[in-house]
Amino acid sequence: MSRQYTVAVVGATGAVGVEMIKVLERRNFPVGKLVLLASARSAGKTLPFKGELVTVEELTEDSFVGVDIALFSAGSGISRKFAPLAVKSGAVVVDNSSEFRMDPDVPLVVPEINGADVKLHKGILANPNCTTAITLMALNPLHQAFGVKRVIASSYQAVSGTGAQAIAELRSQVEAIAGGRPAEKSVYPHQIAFNVLPHIDSFLNNGYTKEEMKMQNEARRILHLPDFKASVTCVRVPVYRAHSIAVTAEFDRPVSVDEARKVLASAPGLELVDDPAKNSYPLPLYVAEKDDCQVGRIRIDCAFENGLAFWVAGDQLLKGAALNAVQIAELI
Ligand code: A2P
Repeated sequence: MSRQYTVAVVGATGAVGVEMIKVLERRNFPVGKLVLLASARSAGKTLPFKGELVTVEELTEDSFVGVDIALFSAGSGISRKFAPLAVKSGAVVVDNSSEFRMDPDVPLVVPEINGADVKLHKGILANPNCTTAITLMALNPLHQAFGVKRVIASSYQAVSGTGAQAIAELRSQVEAIAGGRPAEKSVYPHQIAFNVLPHIDSFLNNGYTKEEMKMQNEARRILHLPDFKASVTCVRVPVYRAHSIAVTAEFDRPVSVDEARKVLASAPGLELVDDPAKNSYPLPLYVAEKDDCQVGRIRIDCAFENGLAFWVAGDQLLKGAALNAVQIAELI
């Protein structure tokens, strides 16, 4: 019998954690034992895995004894404290938070792009920011064909990227407004229902948000392109699930729509949905719960030399988080 692994999911009750459990099951990952970890609030709850109910345990310093692979998605603070403890116990960590993404000792990996970097790990591997991962699924094949220099992008990000509480907030605001009651807010600084917020993560001194700078900083590592530049505006939209990104990219070499469509149609993990005459383009509603990202609206950019504009969408809980993490674990 092939080897089975003890796999821990840290943040198992969260929006991403729940997806991690489903992806492990769906991809038939060789799980001998599944350890589900969350805060004390969730200890004793059960979650389904392969037809059985697994009890959630409180995360403690001793949680990682006997664990081979630990998938973390409980925020940066938890990763900072517990990922090194997991490694000390002998586990390999795949971390979905931003805590270690810029650490030169921690490979930052999208398996379809830089899977070979996995072997450089020293115990911790990082999963990229969700918007960055989805954008790069389309940008990297174009980069391989034409050589990317810089991009300008705007994101349309779903509330599930913020977590389970934000999903509940959008739902309750929609219900309140439809019922003629005032919308209450606690997760976002403004009402998210029937609104868009040009504010994701905290603001930096340069006027961008942290989320916006992740595209440039993380893409440099994933694409191995230290001079890559990205000017991004990240926007939260009242969509439950799946992020979309409008991208204008400038390349070293001349681009053509036909050639771009050809390389995108054959890229792994990506589906070309690009028939505007039939109103066919990627939509968050339809890409939700799909493993593959989708790209469309491909056109020669009218403002840049060697520029191409496109629209890419993907389920940020899957390719942007849980699926990518499990794919990394498969490579390990
Ligand atoms: P819990 O459900 O017990 O609060 P989301 O991103 O959807 O908000 O989920 C965050 C995840 O991180 C949840 O599983 C949550 O568990 C977990 N989490 C939050 N704080 C802690 C903590 N102090 N210790 C362990 N897990 C935590």
